Amino acid sequence: MAGINPAVDRSAVGKPIEDLDTPALCLDLDLFEGNLKRMADFFRGRPAQLRPHFKNNKCSQIACRQLAAGSIVGMTCAKLGEAEVLSAAGCTDILIANQIVGPAKIARLIDLARRTPTLRVAVDDPANITAIAEAAARAGVTVGLLVEVDIGMNRCGVQPGKPALALARQIAKFKGVRFDGLQAYEGHLVAVADRDERGRKVRQDMAKAIETKQLIEADGIAVAIVSGGSTSTYDVAGTIDGVTEVQAGTYPTMDHMYVKLAPEFDIALSIVSRVISRPKAGLAVLDVGLKGAGHEFGPPKVKGLLGREKGVRPVLPERPEGCCAQNGSDPFFTQMSVHLSEEHCTIQRSPEWKVGQAVELVPSHSCTTCNLYRQIHVHQRGSIVDVWPIEASGRLT
Ligand SMILES: Cc1ncc(COP(=O)(O)O)c(C=O)c1O
Repeated sequence: MAGINPAVDRSAVGKPIEDLDTPALCLDLDLFEGNLKRMADFFRGRPAQLRPHFKNNKCSQIACRQLAAGSIVGMTCAKLGEAEVLSAAGCTDILIANQIVGPAKIARLIDLARRTPTLRVAVDDPANITAIAEAAARAGVTVGLLVEVDIGMNRCGVQPGKPALALARQIAKFKGVRFDGLQAYEGHLVAVADRDERGRKVRQDMAKAIETKQLIEADGIAVAIVSGGSTSTYDVAGTIDGVTEVQAGTYPTMDHMYVKLAPEFDIALSIVSRVISRPKAGLAVLDVGLKGAGHEFGPPKVKGLLGREKGVRPVLPERPEGCCAQNGSDPFFTQMSVHLSEEHCTIQRSPEWKVGQAVELVPSHSCTTCNLYRQIHVHQRGSIVDVWPIEASGRLT
């Protein structure tokens, strides 16, 4: 896989991070590479392998590096548009872990199947299966199908057991589609705060997928794949007998919500913004708002002031190994009060920052933050070393 590399503004390369035009999305290269290595090392030599979820960053340069880090069988996507980007970037094995419904989308799916060696999609509806199968047969292509099983999330998916078997039998009768296995994502459990409790519940609910696999196999239909898992459950889901792939998404970038769930990964993603106003003592206003920071899990947190003024950086103490939040405390971040409006970030109880200074923020949700930017500035030891396009950002279809 080589990446696409559409034109990006590379003028910041070689400059200090605080000189970026703001707001700018940034990635700490060393922390990012550490995250990739940590996850790849966990899966090395295990029966289950990674199928990272592209929805986290939507950036083919990141996907290339994930694949190079190893222990990966292919990529997961949420959107057909993401799969199109990955295929164009040279990814040869793609799972769309979502339903592709309607004539326009099925036409795009078939077109994508023509140029992607292995393309799979999740299904949970007999009419949708028929529509995909007939379109694929007409075009002379084969699309792999995973029957999605609802193991407790209450999103898409048929119930485990006989309803899933019925769809597997239907798929087995068609040309143009191939029954490859089960999609079973335990999204209702990824944010369970206590890790032991999370693990217990994941084993309990994933068992529904494994029992469904056994039922289908007993019917004489091979189940090659059981795909599920996440950044906060990989170590449990990825060691359950019968689970073949783990769809972890957030681990390359992380964010301040997810680091509480999986503190072994570092927050590599940040937004560099600038102080544009100091209207009164203790109040600082930055140039990024709701349109520049995913905020589903709260406003961003302040990582620190950037710049050459020694003595003000870092604002934060060094982060001790694994310190984050297992006990509910969060010493990584200062206690300033941060509020976002459309284009502004107001910070109460701010230190004596000056207008023009650059401040690094950590978003609460990396996936929706990456979706807002067209490029990501990669930095190392305070300098911009590369700029990567986020080709699938904004792709809603
Ligand atoms: C289908 C699916 N698989 C896996 C994931 C896990 O992603 P993450 O590791 O970011 O929690 C998600 C998250 O939304 C998902 O929707």
